[in-house]
Amino acid sequence: MRTFVSVDALLDEMTLEEKIGQLGIFADMLRPFAPGINPEMNARNASELTEQIRAGRVGSLFNGIGVEQGREAQRVAVEEARLGIPLLFGADVIHGMRTVFPIPLGEAASFEPALAERTARVAAIEATAAGLHWTFAPAVDIARDQRWGRGAEGAGEDPFLGSAFAAARVRGFQGDDLTADDALLATPKHFVGYGAVMGGLDYNSVEIAEGTLRDVHLPPFKAAIDAGALTVMSAFNDINGVPASAHHGLLTGVLRDEWAFRGFVVSDYTADFELIAHGYAEDERDATRVAFNAGLDMSMQSGLYGAHLADLVRSGEVSIETIDASVRRVLEIKRAIGLFDNPYRSLDAGADAALDLDAHAALARDAARRSIVLARNEGDLLPLPRAGTRIALIGPFAQDRDNLEGCWTLFGDKRLHVNLEDGLRAALEDPSSLDVVPGCAFEAAIDGGLDAAVAAARAADVVLLAVGEPQGFSGEAQSRVAITLPPAQQALAEAVAATGTPIVVLLRNGRALALEGAVRDAQAILVTWFLGSQTGLAVADIVFGDANPSARLPVSFPVHSGQQPLFYNRMRTGRPELPDMTEFKARWREGPHAPLYAFGHGLSYTRFDYAATTVDAARLAWDGTLTVSARITNTGPRDGEEVVQLYVHDRVGSRVRPIRELKGFRKITLAAGTSETVSFTLDRHALAFTRADGTFGAEPGRFDVWIAPASDRGEAATFELLAG
Ligand code: GLC
Repeated sequence: MRTFVSVDALLDEMTLEEKIGQLGIFADMLRPFAPGINPEMNARNASELTEQIRAGRVGSLFNGIGVEQGREAQRVAVEEARLGIPLLFGADVIHGMRTVFPIPLGEAASFEPALAERTARVAAIEATAAGLHWTFAPAVDIARDQRWGRGAEGAGEDPFLGSAFAAARVRGFQGDDLTADDALLATPKHFVGYGAVMGGLDYNSVEIAEGTLRDVHLPPFKAAIDAGALTVMSAFNDINGVPASAHHGLLTGVLRDEWAFRGFVVSDYTADFELIAHGYAEDERDATRVAFNAGLDMSMQSGLYGAHLADLVRSGEVSIETIDASVRRVLEIKRAIGLFDNPYRSLDAGADAALDLDAHAALARDAARRSIVLARNEGDLLPLPRAGTRIALIGPFAQDRDNLEGCWTLFGDKRLHVNLEDGLRAALEDPSSLDVVPGCAFEAAIDGGLDAAVAAARAADVVLLAVGEPQGFSGEAQSRVAITLPPAQQALAEAVAATGTPIVVLLRNGRALALEGAVRDAQAILVTWFLGSQTGLAVADIVFGDANPSARLPVSFPVHSGQQPLFYNRMRTGRPELPDMTEFKARWREGPHAPLYAFGHGLSYTRFDYAATTVDAARLAWDGTLTVSARITNTGPRDGEEVVQLYVHDRVGSRVRPIRELKGFRKITLAAGTSETVSFTLDRHALAFTRADGTFGAEPGRFDVWIAPASDRGEAATFELLAG
């Protein structure tokens, strides 16, 4: 094995072909990988790939796992290739590896970035034990249109919450020491604006104002990079006509010139090749030129860089200095994670056996519990008694085992999973007091299904109605024209509701849904997202009250599907609806501009009362600070956790400002009958935005400020920001 001296010394020895080899990443055909993730686009096979590695033409592989084969591939690279440059092994480890955690959108409902850091840390431990160095996560796209299926992978509609979770997930994946065997390189994605695709249609164009791009979609990437992320993944969409994967203004202007990002940018899959389909490149060679010169350091899967970069350098259309700069970034990251000192790092045959899967399962159960939102609980129907109650678990998710994980889990160990029936039955004193009836399939009726469901409902004291979206309805290329339940499930809900037996909806969802009829009107609604390995136990913990729900909605739930895009931090408009004036106002014929359940909404088995929001001064000096406080009291029957939220509204701006913006949150635990005063400190930096002249900063004037339980509640205090 060669002795590594320095990146510069290595660069000096590398041929152009060897340099270009570091700028490609291919599906790992040497190790078993998730079927269907790497389509036929990659014609390589294992033996050819080994030859390419030996020839120093392959710098990275992705979506293959397995220590033994990984060690062999690394041995070829390090001991048989001329310069012995170690391979980088990446994969999509989005919300867990063998142990699957809630989908990131569900985990964001916890409003606990520290929890996300812990689950990302465990995912890193399991991923590196499987022979990986790098994950293509966290997805940090801000999703305001729930027709888009990939909101499931992010942290919802708000940039402040999204930034907190982006940073936490990067810290969790990477840990404190990048050279550690269990450190997993993070990749905030998809840079940028992917969540703003028109119509919520995946891969569609994005038409967006500079101010919205900078104030809504860029902040989570900045937070992730500030937290130490060293790679970024580009996006498939175009932004105002320029594809993100060839957007010099963003890939170089923002990432390099404004943010001094020193890591590398990898294409999302074949996004460079897709520049041809976009109509932004004439052919593969042209696509290679425009992508690389815009700042796309590494090409995934397409093979374009290996096929065309050398020729582009020889013709002078791509400079060797730009090549060297990109190769240096890749090599510096391989050095930073210790691969030159220890190329067999994270390729330890014993690591997998050493995993504490019980502890990981316990964390998965806690994360799942803390992600469940109690949206409605009429008459305090929940929690249910564990004994003496006849319960009917009805719906296609009741016994299902294939839709527990949610989208983007390639390596989940299904042997570790607990489904709804298992979890609920295990929690009951008399397991036989649970009747289980599917009632229908996910998208179709089943013979006798409704009759069986109605009979079970009639015989029960309460129905747990397990309905929602199959996991294939969210994730990549899963945009929906209507975010409602499949008709067969709605019919099941109506039939069960007609019996009059009280219903608790256990909603399975990868996005906010437009709840209708008997689902919307059920006595109780638990939003359970996709909770991962420990679904059944976590739901039982909440249903029977062992855990008090503490999650809040990271996305607005609409009244109607047609309200999309719908988000709380919207502009007021010149004709806002007023309580007593709805004519000629910004509302739909079919319903209000407002959501059914607002961003930040969530109930508890206890109750929290908010005293008025107060400010410690009526004026905030330009360089001063202001303290905003409110006293919260647990007036209910049991201890609980409350997500205290801080919102501001800039009343007048050089660009119109959102009616509310989240600027702080804190989850507090309050024993029954106790109170706590929660305070936040504001300064002008918290009030900054991209002003009409394109500069970033606050503007003097009047502000409303709330400490509230949700984005649509609370009484505002006001203050004035004074000019500098
Ligand atoms: C996919 C996704 C991206 C993923 C990549 C590699 O198309 O857009 O999120 O990381 O390809 O699998």
